[in-house]
Amino acid sequence: MIKVKERKSMLDEVLHGLTGPQKSLPSKFFYDERGSKLFDEITGLEEYYPTRTERAILKQNIDEIGCYLGDEIILIEPGSGSSDKTRILLKGLNNIAGYLPIDISGDYLFSVASELRKAFPEITIQPLQADYTHSIDLPDSLPEGRKVVFFPGSTIGNFKRDTVDRFLNVVADMVGSNGAFLIGADLKKDVDVLLAAYNDSKGVTAEFNKNILRHLNLELGTEFNTDLFDHKAIWNEEESRIEMHLICKEDHEVEVDGKSISFKEGESIHTENSHKYTLDEFSEIVSPWFDVKKVWTDEQGWFSLQYLEPK
Ligand code: TRP
Repeated sequence: MIKVKERKSMLDEVLHGLTGPQKSLPSKFFYDERGSKLFDEITGLEEYYPTRTERAILKQNIDEIGCYLGDEIILIEPGSGSSDKTRILLKGLNNIAGYLPIDISGDYLFSVASELRKAFPEITIQPLQADYTHSIDLPDSLPEGRKVVFFPGSTIGNFKRDTVDRFLNVVADMVGSNGAFLIGADLKKDVDVLLAAYNDSKGVTAEFNKNILRHLNLELGTEFNTDLFDHKAIWNEEESRIEMHLICKEDHEVEVDGKSISFKEGESIHTENSHKYTLDEFSEIVSPWFDVKKVWTDEQGWFSLQYLEPK
């Protein structure tokens, strides 16, 4: 269970999201234990191309990536989670002096860090528990070296535009003028491919989407009936993003913190955005802080790994 203060702020955010003209919920509430497992399952699905495509790009270009990153680097990863993709770098490069995984979930972070210490004894592993969307104070005791932030998974595409700017600012600050930024960005492509990736045939993404309501039930004691909602993924051309929604199937009411919230048949709760970019759009977005120096993509041009340097 979460603490009283966290429960209060979760309630505030939920109520705020469910009382606007377009109902919405913050996507961070997908991730309780069940949500994290479902997400892991999504990344292994045939239709969900981003994870395997990015891993292949990392593996195929590992030597060249090493050349761009330079000697004696300190790899910093905001939102490191399982550090799964990072292992490709830790294994394939011989120029990593230190690795600093940053995650909000401390227990998981420290257990992954101790596994990594065993697997890579020659690399200084220094986990940092923090919310990376705010500014981050790096520890003074970092080994010497060029700071490189690694941010895979096109997670930047899940941020709102103002959060993107704030985040790029934090990263630029963190790496300093000699540093670098290695980031995964998902690219625009055939809409059918995109829709399939966020609406898989096994229904795992649908379960994942509905899990946000189960999570609220568990943490807040609400009584959402997930059977009264359908998962829907749509392509929003104007905003160039996939949107995930939960569509209400019949009129009903749900009580949240003593307030009755009404849901009408056909009404949606907006739960996630996943922006897709052209290479030009992406370089434009980062341009106040970074120059794109190198882009690696797969053969189909579906996903990009980009090497950026501060302006
Ligand atoms: N950043 C990835 C993406 O947008 C992963 C992700 C975040 C995701 N939230 C999701 C994938 C919700 C599926 C559903 O694809």
